[in-house]
Amino acid sequence: MKESLDALLGTGLAELEDAQGEAELQELRVRYLGKKGEITARMKMLGGLPPEERPAAGQLINTAKAQFEARFEEVLDRARSREKARRLQSERIDVSLPGRRSALGARHPLTIITDEICAIFAGLGFQVAEGPEIETDYYNFEALNFPHDHPARDMQDTFFVDGSRLLRTHTSPVQVRTMLAQEPPVRIIAPGTVYRCDSDATHSPMFHQVEGLMVDRKITFSDLKGVLTSFINQLFGTGTGVRLRPSFFPFTEPSAEVDIACVICSGKGCRVCKQTGWLEILGAGMVDPEVFRHVHYDPEAVTGFAFGMGIERITMLKYGISDMRLLFENDVRFLRQF
Ligand code: DAH
Repeated sequence: MKESLDALLGTGLAELEDAQGEAELQELRVRYLGKKGEITARMKMLGGLPPEERPAAGQLINTAKAQFEARFEEVLDRARSREKARRLQSERIDVSLPGRRSALGARHPLTIITDEICAIFAGLGFQVAEGPEIETDYYNFEALNFPHDHPARDMQDTFFVDGSRLLRTHTSPVQVRTMLAQEPPVRIIAPGTVYRCDSDATHSPMFHQVEGLMVDRKITFSDLKGVLTSFINQLFGTGTGVRLRPSFFPFTEPSAEVDIACVICSGKGCRVCKQTGWLEILGAGMVDPEVFRHVHYDPEAVTGFAFGMGIERITMLKYGISDMRLLFENDVRFLRQF
């Protein structure tokens, strides 16, 4: 029995040596050590031997089994590392190939200009404040001194959510909310989205404004002019011409419309400035005492100025965009240019 077992083991070990790859090795393992394997079969034959021979024979078979197993593990390890080395060779990554870029988004031109405006006012000591886009009639009109049925409301026709709530027509209600929430001094700017029933090449039913408000003791019209001139010089360039014209807003007295020298023709007169040499960019004025009364500020103790500007208009002037609708069509060929 010993000789035939040695012969079987010899063949088995030789076959392990010749096997190509892991699959063939696993097949050999089944053939020799599986349930119906050749070495396993020898174990089953032990019963046919005289009892006194069984222990020695059993030991021989066990040794043969252990030898086969040990060799199998070694050869399997070797086969696996060869396979790994082969794959590392053939599947090598070419790090010199150009990578695939993932397209990066960019800020919208209106966001760029809003951030720029806020940064300039931050430099002048203003803090950013915000308010809701669905506003009450009280904050949007009443507290800003727009009497019921006053024609000034017609210029700001808007979308009503119900009898008393509407989409805000300007950022001015943030003035009221801020003053009700804190005592003077106040120095804020409020950027945000506003809505009006308006739609053409230079008006959109949804657009953006930045509001400004400064309240303290002894704030004068000169402070207003100084702050706005500094802002305009920073945004449009040092030496940009600034002009204030008398105007009317219910919540400021006196009120002014602020123009800058045309950025397209430098004041000579062109299509953009309608041959006037000037471009209107914002409304401003001294806070009306009536507004102070609504927010429980003492008009005898404090004064202040306010201003409001349209961000679309300023963005169009800064970038030379002639149609406001381009800002909202989301055509990537347009947006990629900023
Ligand atoms: N709220 C005004 C508008 O939308 C703009 C404005 C004018 C705001 C004068 C102000 C101001 O704060 O003082 O037409």
